[in-house]
Amino acid sequence: MHPMRHGMLMKLMPFLCKIGFECGTTDTCKTDADCTGGLKCVIESPSYSQCTDCTPAAFATQCESMSETFLLAAEAKCGISTCKDRCPHHTDADCDKPDSCVVQQDGYYAKCVDCTNSTSFNEQCIYWSEQMRTAAEAKCKLNCTKLPPPSPPGPSPGGHNCAELQCTAPAQCVEQADHSWAQCVDCTNATTYAQQCKGWSPSIRTAAAAKCGLPCTADSGGACHAPDLPCPKPQSCVTQADGYFSQCIDCTSEQWFDSNCKYWSDQIRTAAEKACNLECPK
Ligand SMILES: *[C@@H]1O[C@H](CO)[C@@H](O)[C@H](O)[C@H]1NC(C)=O
Ligand SMILES: *[C@@H]1O[C@H](CO)[C@@H](O)[C@H](O)[C@H]1NC(C)=O
Ligand SMILES: *[C@@H]1O[C@H](CO)[C@@H](O)[C@H](O)[C@H]1NC(C)=O
Repeated sequence: MHPMRHGMLMKLMPFLCKIGFECGTTDTCKTDADCTGGLKCVIESPSYSQCTDCTPAAFATQCESMSETFLLAAEAKCGISTCKDRCPHHTDADCDKPDSCVVQQDGYYAKCVDCTNSTSFNEQCIYWSEQMRTAAEAKCKLNCTKLPPPSPPGPSPGGHNCAELQCTAPAQCVEQADHSWAQCVDCTNATTYAQQCKGWSPSIRTAAAAKCGLPCTADSGGACHAPDLPCPKPQSCVTQADGYFSQCIDCTSEQWFDSNCKYWSDQIRTAAEKACNLECPK
């Protein structure tokens, strides 16, 4: 992206962030001095940084729902080398023995799996995403034989935490990082997951993406949210000036822009014209 356009996009992105998760702007933190309460600034990439609690107890619970790349950066920054059942370096040495590190094909997620016990393998594999199951079957040379039929579609029941909530397999409980909400999510069917995840809160989306190893992508021209609901490439997530709504806009095609812009709200059109440096035909 043209540097000037990029700068404008960043300025448009408001603070929609909670400490610890779901932030996606360069403004989130640059150094530890930008973080309050003794938190440390973890910089995953030029476009994603986050104030993070590096105390061992807080880290141990929060790390479970971090994305693969953020977890790597957070472990390095906090000087903590382990997170239960996670192996972000993609080596067996990350895992407690006898577990092995299973990396799914897209590299987005890896987890520690006990390949030595086919009973526990079969109990747990029903909760994994298709990608994770395929990778684990290959690495462990075991088959996941106990997969139950998919659960009927419908709204997931929600509750405050996973202790209160009973999910029917293959759905499993996903709890947001601040423990204020949990819901049942089926990680095993990527098609229904991709449809349903767009309607979830950013916190649940972040937690589910980590637990299931399945990121969520916005529809072309649809509502988006950085970084848990990015736009399909080459579209950009444009946020209106008051910060209450963001939409996927293709700044790379004037033809796309011109034919779609008349349907947008005034606020999004104004923000998109600035972000893309294009004008909507009158
Ligand atoms: C294998 O896993 C099952 C179920 O989790 C457990 O009951 C059993 O003790 C395990 N066997 C060994 C040898 O660890
Ligand atoms: C897993 O299933 C495949 C196909 O059904 C079979 O060829 C293979 O031998 C099985 N592997 C194990 C370890 O049971
Ligand atoms: C996923 O769910 C949809 C809708 O319920 C169903 O049509 C499809 O067969 C399921 N796919 C898999 C792989 O189970």
